[in-house]
Amino acid sequence: MKVIIGPASKELATKIADLTDYEKIDVISKKFPDGEVYVRLGNNVKGENIAIVQTTSPPQNDNLLQLAFIASAAKLAGAKKIIAITPYLAYARQDKIFLQGENRSIETIGNILKSSGIDEIITVNIHQEEVLKRFTIPAKTLSAIPLIANYFKKRGYNEAFSLAPDKGARYIAGQAKKVLGGEFGHLEKHRDRYTGKLSVSKKSFNVKGKTAIIFDDIISTGGTIVKAAKILLDLGAARVFAACVHPLLIGDAEDRILDAGVEEVIGTDSVPSRFSKVSLSPLISQEIKAQESG
Ligand code: R5P
Repeated sequence: MKVIIGPASKELATKIADLTDYEKIDVISKKFPDGEVYVRLGNNVKGENIAIVQTTSPPQNDNLLQLAFIASAAKLAGAKKIIAITPYLAYARQDKIFLQGENRSIETIGNILKSSGIDEIITVNIHQEEVLKRFTIPAKTLSAIPLIANYFKKRGYNEAFSLAPDKGARYIAGQAKKVLGGEFGHLEKHRDRYTGKLSVSKKSFNVKGKTAIIFDDIISTGGTIVKAAKILLDLGAARVFAACVHPLLIGDAEDRILDAGVEEVIGTDSVPSRFSKVSLSPLISQEIKAQESG
């Protein structure tokens, strides 16, 4: 197995190559003046099993296209098996036809990746796991929640209350609770498909005087976390943290979250940023090592 260092995930890919002891293949990349992307593999991949580590967080369209071009270059150069490791898989939230006339974007992305030569996809905490069953190549999602919960545990926040801001993320809070102990629960969230307006309904939890951690797959505008934090603080939580796998934090999201009373935002290097306090490298290395030996 050789690890291709995708331009969007240089640090994570390098850590994975170092942990697994697999050879690294660099990618020469540039953007033409008109915005088109260009990639070239820095080494030979003929006859090799290849893992391309390339997240598809914003600028997601460029990163997706780079991934497709890298895979296609590897295929043309004679790679044997091509695994795409895309910790954040863009467009995963458009997994249904919510309004007439839409498409299932994530399925279209799966088809594009397959046609570029990718044989298998590994992602992390995809928004809805079921969507991967509709992919026409094998696709698997790993969970980074135990790693994130361990990060909090090491900082002494055992017994914290783990909260999922909606039902879909309840499994996430459940996984966190297994590591942290304490209790867990979820809120009910509704987003208006036309206006985007978000409402989160209040529930009663026993958080008075406790530390509470809101766990979600993605933090984007921060709207969900702001509403969830308000509920926890109204219920008397002493301290509130926000944790996610994919810290997109668009625009002034961090300010809005901190203004709502959240102490700190923690994410992973799925989306490289200053919120990336937990690395996915052990999780992904273990998975590709197991695949290679099994
Ligand atoms: C959607 O249900 C996801 O799980 C996240 O809760 C959502 O993407 C967060 O978005 P925002 O930060 O914009 O509220």
